[in-house]
Amino acid sequence: MRFRHYRRDLPNRRIEGMNAITHEPGPAVEIRDLSCRYGSFTAVDRVSFAVGPGELFALLGTNGAGKTTTIETAIGMRRPAAGSARVLGRDPYRHRRDLAGAVAVIGQETGFADDLTAAETIKLWTDLHRLPSQSDALLERVDLAHRAAVRVGALSGGERRRLDLALALATSPTVLFADEPTTGLDPASRRRTWGLLRELTQRGTAVVLTTHYLDEAAELADHVAIMDRGRIARFGTVAEITAAYEARISMRPKPFDPLALPALAGRTSVDDGLLTVRTTELQADLHRLLDWAARTGVDLADLKAGPATLDEIFAELEAEPTATP
Ligand SMILES: Nc1ncnc2c1ncn2[C@@H]1O[C@H](COP(=O)(O)OP(=O)(O)OP(=O)(O)O)[C@@H](O)[C@H]1O
Ligand SMILES: [Mg+2]
Repeated sequence: MRFRHYRRDLPNRRIEGMNAITHEPGPAVEIRDLSCRYGSFTAVDRVSFAVGPGELFALLGTNGAGKTTTIETAIGMRRPAAGSARVLGRDPYRHRRDLAGAVAVIGQETGFADDLTAAETIKLWTDLHRLPSQSDALLERVDLAHRAAVRVGALSGGERRRLDLALALATSPTVLFADEPTTGLDPASRRRTWGLLRELTQRGTAVVLTTHYLDEAAELADHVAIMDRGRIARFGTVAEITAAYEARISMRPKPFDPLALPALAGRTSVDDGLLTVRTTELQADLHRLLDWAARTGVDLADLKAGPATLDEIFAELEAEPTATP
């Protein structure tokens, strides 16, 4: 069967050599009604999503929500109990070898040889993929040039994460699965990783990312799914998801007399001196509070105002008896 390449504008080197995999037009990653079980336990329950070339899709969710299991199934490490996964039009379990050159994976746990140096690890990887040697350039891109001669076993957790990213970049993948690529990174490294992920999507790579950070998803993702107990509980852009929750204003008024508060549209609660207002009228209620504080000389210590955070969204999802798909 002859496949047409999905993006005609991709650079030629992307479809040469090990990356010579083409597929019919359609999503680069398509997960349909996917269920995965460990014994009788359902870890992933009828999950569906699709990711096109140049798109970044983020999977969020608490520990154990089923993100890694979904990714492991999409990269062909395990077979679905029900439903299907397609990557570049192929079944990743049956065609794992065919897909190997086009699909890169940053696993949640790295499996490097501790005795090799960072540069040797990249050399081994590029040799394996029959790519030109490019250790220096790749280490530079992930800000590890100064660690080139250091044994992997002596790299910090964040440095290993960045080495993992360098290996993923080496093959110029058509699809990248990145399971928590920024966990454990310092803020500057996180931003650098964001830049590199953006570069990949701009060049047409489809990226499936898991993260515990809503700001990361907001920064990078075209679409986000929040997983809860194996199911997709919320789907959309970060703005769409947070818009469905009340915004929060919190502060420690000093002095604090709850009875003296102005009339607000939102609901107030007090916990250990921290006043929280949940409101659909963020700007108006904030204005009322600031105005009240100015008139009465109350100091609004630790004032924060903004949309619901991921923690708050998770807490509300967990409070639901079962996740709503
Ligand atoms: N090999 C396994 N055998 C049995 N149960 C497993 C196995 N791997 C994962 N699980 C269970 O399946 C569920 C989903 O795990 P998974 O690793 O997919 O979650 P996750 O969303 O990636 O979590 P985290 O944020 O902690 O990485 C969890 O309840 C976990 O305990
Ligand atoms: Mg995981």
